[in-house]
Amino acid sequence: MRKMIAGNWKMNGNLAANEALVQGILAGIGEPACDVVVCPPGIYIAQVQALLAGQDKVALGVQNVSQHQNGAYTGDVSADMLKEFGVRYAIVGHSERRQHQAETDTNVAIKAKRALEAGITPIVCVGETQRERDEGMTDYIVRRQLAAVTHLVGHCISEIVVAYEPVWAIGTGKTATPEEAQHVHAIMRTQLRAASEQADRIRLLYGGSMNASNAAQLLAQPDIDGGLIGGAALKPQDFLAIIAAAQ
Ligand code: PGA
Repeated sequence: MRKMIAGNWKMNGNLAANEALVQGILAGIGEPACDVVVCPPGIYIAQVQALLAGQDKVALGVQNVSQHQNGAYTGDVSADMLKEFGVRYAIVGHSERRQHQAETDTNVAIKAKRALEAGITPIVCVGETQRERDEGMTDYIVRRQLAAVTHLVGHCISEIVVAYEPVWAIGTGKTATPEEAQHVHAIMRTQLRAASEQADRIRLLYGGSMNASNAAQLLAQPDIDGGLIGGAALKPQDFLAIIAAAQ
């Protein structure tokens, strides 16, 4: 399966920094062996769309999408609106949103469905906190978060991308070992196979302090089909090194 490397810029950047980052990526990307996505903050979508115009090596994503279609939802941006700006991927259910915006499994599942309805591929994030890990609940939490999406999305489930991002590994420099990550990815694969005959084409990304030095080992695991990259997606050289590791 062709791997995917997606950069989640989070709430970082500005007009000048975004331009330098995209130009740096495009200048060094060559012929990537994987699909590459960048997810800037929503306000910069039009800027990054213009910077990516005329090439097909780097696709545009966003970090969130409204669970509503349109109407009186102040501050929200709908999937249809994003689609107008060439957005092809939407991260949904990132742990920072589950934590700071109180997004529930149900909210996340609805967002995934809205994205799919608009022709945008949701990158559904799941993962346990440090406490849940300490209590031995990792498998349960991941299954529960993923089940909410498989139940709501139904037969379209093979169109999603999943990102396993252990919360304790995000931005901390602590990475799940390749074996730990593979263990969870195998559980997700089994769960998705039960939901769809097409489950083997669903890309399962790992995220959480993935960087140029640990990417190759993680990406060598049989059920790790790519990475969702935070900090290391903000520097062209780091991001390009991870892309090069994704064969
Ligand atoms: P990180 O973030 O690579 O900085 O740990 C990953 C993410 O939150 O998607």
